[in-house]
Amino acid sequence: MANASGFLTPSVPSLRRKIQPSIGFSRSGFCFSEGIYRRVVCSTGVEGAGTHVSPSQSRVSRLVSKGCKLVGCGSAVPSLSVSNDDLAKIVDTSDEWISVRTGIRNRRVISGKENLRNLAVEAARKALKMADVEPDDLDMILMCTSTPEDIFGDAPKVQRELGCTKSQLAHDVTAACSGFVLGLFSASCYIRGGGLRNVLVIGADVISRFVDWTDRGTCILFGDAAGAVVVQACDADEDGLLSFDLHSDGEGARHLGAPIKDDEINDLLGSNGPALEFPPKRSSYACIQMNGKEVFRFAVRCVPQSIESALEKADLKASDVDWLLLHQANQRIIDAVATRLEFPPEKVISNLANYGNTSAASIPLALDEAVRSGKVKPGHTIATSGFGAGLTWGSAVIRWG
Ligand code: ACO
Repeated sequence: MANASGFLTPSVPSLRRKIQPSIGFSRSGFCFSEGIYRRVVCSTGVEGAGTHVSPSQSRVSRLVSKGCKLVGCGSAVPSLSVSNDDLAKIVDTSDEWISVRTGIRNRRVISGKENLRNLAVEAARKALKMADVEPDDLDMILMCTSTPEDIFGDAPKVQRELGCTKSQLAHDVTAACSGFVLGLFSASCYIRGGGLRNVLVIGADVISRFVDWTDRGTCILFGDAAGAVVVQACDADEDGLLSFDLHSDGEGARHLGAPIKDDEINDLLGSNGPALEFPPKRSSYACIQMNGKEVFRFAVRCVPQSIESALEKADLKASDVDWLLLHQANQRIIDAVATRLEFPPEKVISNLANYGNTSAASIPLALDEAVRSGKVKPGHTIATSGFGAGLTWGSAVIRWG
């Protein structure tokens, strides 16, 4: 199977309402038109998202779209499937240990010419197709990843490979497994405050490049994937990004990270602290280091609180929500959070068994599968939460379509 969508129904309901990048007004007072920002006067009043405004009208007081909705999704996974039994051939583990402790049975890992960018581009193309949005209709691309092919960011290269020709802004968002939720939040801010119309949010990670494949404590957990959604400006009554609750805690960073290698830092800084040598040596990053028990405790403590807070901001109760879709890290974490929030198992989306923890890709990958299989339907509400390295964690209440 070449990708996560291959086994799903071929005809995907299109949720689109095609909006060309044109002119929008923001509460901040800036107007976006064909890549140009101009200061405009703002006051009260709501302008429909699809309305075009001529330059002569640009000094008329108004606000732009108050709403943003999800109009397309897509995903991609590598072709190589690695089972628990495959892992048991390279580290001292077993299918039983992994599946009982984590719920994971398989993961996809890049091989040959596969890489982060081509997974991201494939997922993005599918999302654009479902949304019926052309690459040049995009106002922005947010590439949520912690494993870029280029340390300076991959988003502009994804933009080029998608065939965007208008120099729309494209940049990376780094927040590990919370990256996609932060990307959704950023998209909502850019749309509501910046007057943008179509924002592509990609969650993609190739964690396999940063895993120590001799460490049975971590290598069993991760897989590679990409997922993407198109977020589109709309009227307030169609709003699909209902609330967010976002946090980070650098104190907890010691429990999970992939830092620059210590010995290289020590070589750079001598015992007194300041750098003694110039030029500095080239740096490289350590493989993922994790205190699994602490990360587990953090997740089951913070994620329910965060979702409760997002639900409260959306003025909803857990029982009002159709689906719980958590970052796919460990089935025991998913079950503990669902129990705490009193979500019945049939309302919990999980594809962890097939893909493991795919970091920033896990939420859009699971969403895409659930949408294409007909589980998640237009109008359904979803409580979602990402959590992981940073430490970072963030929840959103969203409505699909
Ligand atoms: N196979 C067999 N035995 C193993 C394995 C393995 N793969 N890994 C560890 N063990 C052994 C340990 O050595 C230990 O043996 P001992 O009792 O003889 O010392 C025993 O199993 C128990 O090990 P623990 O680490 O205590 O196992 P635990 O029940 O905590 O499960 C796990 C480990 C699965 C990693 C769990 O802690 C976990 O899922 N934590 C959360 C990880 C997570 O969610 N990360 C998300 C963020 S990722 C990101 O942000 C990039």
